[in-house]
Amino acid sequence: MEVPFERAYPFELADKLEAERNLTDKEFESVILCDYPGFDEYLAEKARAVREKYYGKKVYLRGLIEFTNICKNNCYYCGIRRDNPNAERYRLNEEQILTCCAAGYELGFRTFVLQGGEDPYYTDDLVASIVSSIKERHPDCAVTLSIGEREKESYQKFFDAGADRYLLRHETADKEHYEMLHPAELSFDHRMQCLRYLKEIGYQVGCGMMVGSPYQTVEHLVKDLRFLREFEPEMVGIGPFIPHHDTQFADRKAGTVGMTVRLLSIIRLLLPDVLLPATTALGTIDPIGREKGLLASANVIMPNLSPADVRKKYLLYDNKITAGDEAAEAVRDMTKRIASVGYEAVVDRGDHVSLGTK
Ligand code: 5AD
Repeated sequence: MEVPFERAYPFELADKLEAERNLTDKEFESVILCDYPGFDEYLAEKARAVREKYYGKKVYLRGLIEFTNICKNNCYYCGIRRDNPNAERYRLNEEQILTCCAAGYELGFRTFVLQGGEDPYYTDDLVASIVSSIKERHPDCAVTLSIGEREKESYQKFFDAGADRYLLRHETADKEHYEMLHPAELSFDHRMQCLRYLKEIGYQVGCGMMVGSPYQTVEHLVKDLRFLREFEPEMVGIGPFIPHHDTQFADRKAGTVGMTVRLLSIIRLLLPDVLLPATTALGTIDPIGREKGLLASANVIMPNLSPADVRKKYLLYDNKITAGDEAAEAVRDMTKRIASVGYEAVVDRGDHVSLGTK
């Protein structure tokens, strides 16, 4: 691509990011803020090339089961926070979760992601029992947990029961910013500690942040990128912040598709073999947001396998999209969307493989 001289600088930074997998803080800021026409496409092309080098055209489908929307925490941004009296609460029992997995297995899924609020009903023993039942019935499947902060011993127990992966977004790598998004009883240091525990135990770990969350600055985003580079997670989940009407951030602006996809490309260039989901939040703020995410190098999509009646209740933010009533419909829809941008939906375990790039 021919770049006019006066526009060269940020494009050169993209080249440097690709070559060195790193930039200085100031350079990251320039890349995040750059508004030259054509810059996003330039960055995305590089990110796609890296993604295709390691993962070809494959997009991994993971079966998501949102098994409880009861939560003991009160995060200021989240629709299922403890003090929201209007959230219609639900829990799936072990048998219901296993039924979702069985249906997902029939559809070809080989990864199940169990996500929920921090719900004390699911004791360590119960979680371990659910994990081991899934692994017993489907030994060829990976189980991912996403159930928030617990003790190291609890994480170990789940791992021993067969859990392979754990998703715990760090939300923001800046302590002060963390404290603006969470009540005092939640601690930035503890969250980061949990992420380190998960890694030590041997999980494939996913972290991530919201894009455009209240009070977020470009410096915070640079800190996030710095943290991702140092922590080297196997997966990074990012999505735009979207206000929920029953939270104190109801009137805040949502994050943008543009900034989210730009960050996806940047993260791909930082961590070439990372698994990057095109998230539901991205599909919520733009009807083709997830497709745009794929074109910016995302390579994972998580269709919802939860029963249709509870899906409408797992509302972290307003207007959350839900695919058709049947899991099969969700898979068909997703497969079509993935094909529409030239990629191929696959359902195998799709473990993160360290490709010797680090
Ligand atoms: N907008 C976007 N993402 C949200 N999450 C929670 N609330 C919101 C919101 N209002 C994200 C958080 C959390 C994940 C499960 O969902 O990053 O870790």
